[in-house]
Amino acid sequence: MTKAIILSGGYGTRLRPLSCTIPKSLMPIVNKPVMERQILLLKSAGVKEIVLAVSVMDDIVKNYFKDGSQLGVRIHYTEEKHPLGTAGAVKIAEPYLEKENFFMINGDVILNCDLKGMLKFHTAKKGIGTIAGKVVDDPSRYGVLIENEDTHQILEFLEKDEYSPPNGKIIPMPINAGVYLLEPEIFSYIEPHKKVSIERQVFPIVAKKEQLFYHQISGVWKDIGKPYDLLEGNMILMVDLMKNLEDNVKNLIDQSADIHPSSKIYSPCTIGEKVVIHGDCNIGPNVILGDNVFIDNNVELRDCLIYNESYISSNVKIDKAIIADNCHIQENVTLRGNNENLVILASYVEVLKNLEILAPKTISLTVCHHEVLKESMK
Ligand code: GDD
Ligand code: MG
Repeated sequence: MTKAIILSGGYGTRLRPLSCTIPKSLMPIVNKPVMERQILLLKSAGVKEIVLAVSVMDDIVKNYFKDGSQLGVRIHYTEEKHPLGTAGAVKIAEPYLEKENFFMINGDVILNCDLKGMLKFHTAKKGIGTIAGKVVDDPSRYGVLIENEDTHQILEFLEKDEYSPPNGKIIPMPINAGVYLLEPEIFSYIEPHKKVSIERQVFPIVAKKEQLFYHQISGVWKDIGKPYDLLEGNMILMVDLMKNLEDNVKNLIDQSADIHPSSKIYSPCTIGEKVVIHGDCNIGPNVILGDNVFIDNNVELRDCLIYNESYISSNVKIDKAIIADNCHIQENVTLRGNNENLVILASYVEVLKNLEILAPKTISLTVCHHEVLKESMK
């Protein structure tokens, strides 16, 4: 039976200040942690045993998933005293994974794809590894895969800075989606007790041995490296989840939500448990509200994520923003980001009334938790 390992050892520095209180693997994606969505996807492909290689804020993650029984899987945890790199983290999980093939997944990607199809492809190719990939317009942030288009054998694996586009011109290329199917033989390529990168030190060697294959995945895939990716990835998955539901659903609204009839919801929107929305509000499009969010009269929300337990007072306008849990926005406040740069409030931020918080054109405006804003910022 195929098992799995999910890696989440990074600090998520580019997601600060959200990642100061929320481990990257628990970042909500349409109101469920990114890693929980991966676990459920693995389970739907028949995987019942999963190793979590989590090293940052691991106590919070362990406390959330425990032994996995609530999700119907068996979860093991590994201990890394220092970050061992993507291959080193797998090497210490060898005792759990040594008997049969296993999925390995980067814990910071939003995924909804056909893992069973990948398993079928891998079995037919009989290589040591299969890498799931996607063709993207700008491959510069990712590992690039050069394949033989007939056999799908990977000829070269080039991690981010190792690839230079022909004549310096950026062209669409197949990239590494951070989802692999590996045979236990892979362990013999990883030196124990050392920091080793699977992308830089292992895959190039396995590719040379003609034992690495490329499998193009369709469906949702999005790396949540930066805040704008997190916002966009949430929206992409929300639309995908609705597409797969019956009855042409246009919004995901929990039955326990209490929405005043004079308020309008513009799809697509997700509204979590026990959310209260008072009158004359315009919510959406592209809004995801977590559980127990309270929205007072005459509030306008667009293109934003608001995590659990936040309180939005009357006459507030929010556009292109991420508001973490337990924030309090007082009356007549405007929070506005722009197309690339968001306004980001970490957990427990309070914004006093009548303020304007506007992200500059070039950089997201981020506010750390336990701060009280008393002046407008531009
Ligand atoms: N346990 C553990 N220990 N996990 C680690 C460690 C470590 O030392 N180092 C990295 N990870 C985890 C990260 O938490 C993340 O989930 C995953 O491994 C990949 O590391 P990132 O730091 O996020 O790498 P990246 O996004 O720049 O690039 C990787 O992912 C791209 C796809 O999103 C590479 O695999 C690229 O080739 C790939 O295209
Ligand atoms: Mg990443």
